Amino acid sequence: MNELYWKSKKTLYERFRHRAPFQKILERENENLLRLLKQTHHCDKAVVDLGVGIGNVIQFLPDAKTLIGIDYTDSMIKSTRENFPHCKLILADVMHIPLSSNSVDLITAVGLTEYLKDIIPLAKEVCRVLKPGGFLIITFSPKNILTRLRVLLGRPVYSRKPEQMISVAKFCGFEIVDELQSLMQHQALFAKTTD
Ligand SMILES: C[S@@+](CC[C@H](N)C(=O)[O-])C[C@H]1O[C@@H](n2cnc3c(N)ncnc32)[C@H](O)[C@@H]1O
Repeated sequence: MNELYWKSKKTLYERFRHRAPFQKILERENENLLRLLKQTHHCDKAVVDLGVGIGNVIQFLPDAKTLIGIDYTDSMIKSTRENFPHCKLILADVMHIPLSSNSVDLITAVGLTEYLKDIIPLAKEVCRVLKPGGFLIITFSPKNILTRLRVLLGRPVYSRKPEQMISVAKFCGFEIVDELQSLMQHQALFAKTTD
């Protein structure tokens, strides 16, 4: 079911993401992502992208020391492997990241949380894998009409308010560093505060 759904979304991304008006939306999201990435000093660091999809985030991380993309959809992994051969790809559920504790400097999760009903397990898992002082860039869908309309694509979309995300993150050992907003996405940068 997941594989089928994401396989059809992959085709949509490949066909429409780089056409108006989706291109403009993605451009703004990527601008915000770059602004947050700049604050993480990730050159020569260990970086993991959760829900890697077709590799939108991977293109902005050419200087990472090690770069890993994780996704549970085989077709997404295959597509990213073709386009970004330098990136190590792992087929796995982000709720159980197959990496050691305190081993990663930066984790990104872009366009992922809106498909997860409960994000506390994800935040705890990310906190486990990140080194103390490590960064998390995470996006979520704001509560608005555009998010509600996305249900028409065939799957529930869980919207969240910024204060909800911040309180979950604090509960799991993070502090907010910066946050930005675009039409369909809220982007937040957190730092891990606990050991
Ligand atoms: C909307 S796409 C975002 C892709 C990419 N991050 C981007 O910004 O274009 C969401 C991706 O998350 C993956 N995904 C969703 N839930 C997941 C889970 N629990 N574990 C692993 N991957 C998941 C899907 O397979 C899909 O590739």
